[in-house]
Amino acid sequence: MAVIAPSRNVPTHIAIIMDGNGRWAAARHLPRAFGHRAGAEAVRRITEACAELGIRYLTLYAFSWENWDRPQEEIHDLMALLDEFLAREAPTLHRHRIRLRAIGRLQELPPATTVNLRRLMDETARHEGMTLTLALSYGGRQELVDAARRLAQLAREGRLDPQHIDEELLARHLYAPDLPDPDLVIRTAGEQRLSNFLLWQSSYAELYTTSKTWPEFTTAELLEAMAAYGRRERRFGRRTTVPVG
Ligand code: IPE
Ligand code: IPE
Ligand code: MG
Repeated sequence: MAVIAPSRNVPTHIAIIMDGNGRWAAARHLPRAFGHRAGAEAVRRITEACAELGIRYLTLYAFSWENWDRPQEEIHDLMALLDEFLAREAPTLHRHRIRLRAIGRLQELPPATTVNLRRLMDETARHEGMTLTLALSYGGRQELVDAARRLAQLAREGRLDPQHIDEELLARHLYAPDLPDPDLVIRTAGEQRLSNFLLWQSSYAELYTTSKTWPEFTTAELLEAMAAYGRRERRFGRRTTVPVG
């Protein structure tokens, strides 16, 4: 697959709200777990496609803070799939020189999963290809709460003057301060909401939704989302650069 030449119209950072695994399974009269398994296949497919297309950062919303409220059985299935992904996809990550990261309240994950996750993050830390970030046990509000706690702690220790808190300092206390903000946020399965994903970082992201469920999301769909992004004019509150009238 050809690498798209870097241009201002190609997103540097794509973030995806992978939704619709349950509906994919229901439409096929299959248990939800089958939908999550098909979703894991889509993760591999789209990760490889993004790496081959030269995307620098891909962030996947894999498990939200609110998803802890799902039935224990489903949580168990999702964690087992995550373990399987971490065990099976190491060669894929190495082959494409992909660096694995994770954001979220990782301390809430099962201890064995955290160990597997940290091991693969360490093993891929020096890869200089795409950065793949998994949002796990992640919530945008929780991330801001955690940042506020850290800043308050620093202030209490006398190491921070509250007057010095500005956007840059707050951003430096988020889970992965070195990641650039997403340029393009894709959501599958027709829903038009952020569901607590990257609330701070997405303030000027371009949103793209598709009715396709996550297991149905193909490289062609990805290219369509990127093409739509390429046609957008990002103004960041400034005046249009396209002459009007
Ligand atoms: C996305 O699929 C996966 C997770 C949220 C973990 P869903 O499980 O939300 O599927 P739907 O929305 O019920 O179809
Ligand atoms: C968002 O999907 C979370 C992930 C994709 C991990 P949900 O299915 O949990 O979102 P809602 O409940 O429809 O908003
Ligand atoms: Mg859903």
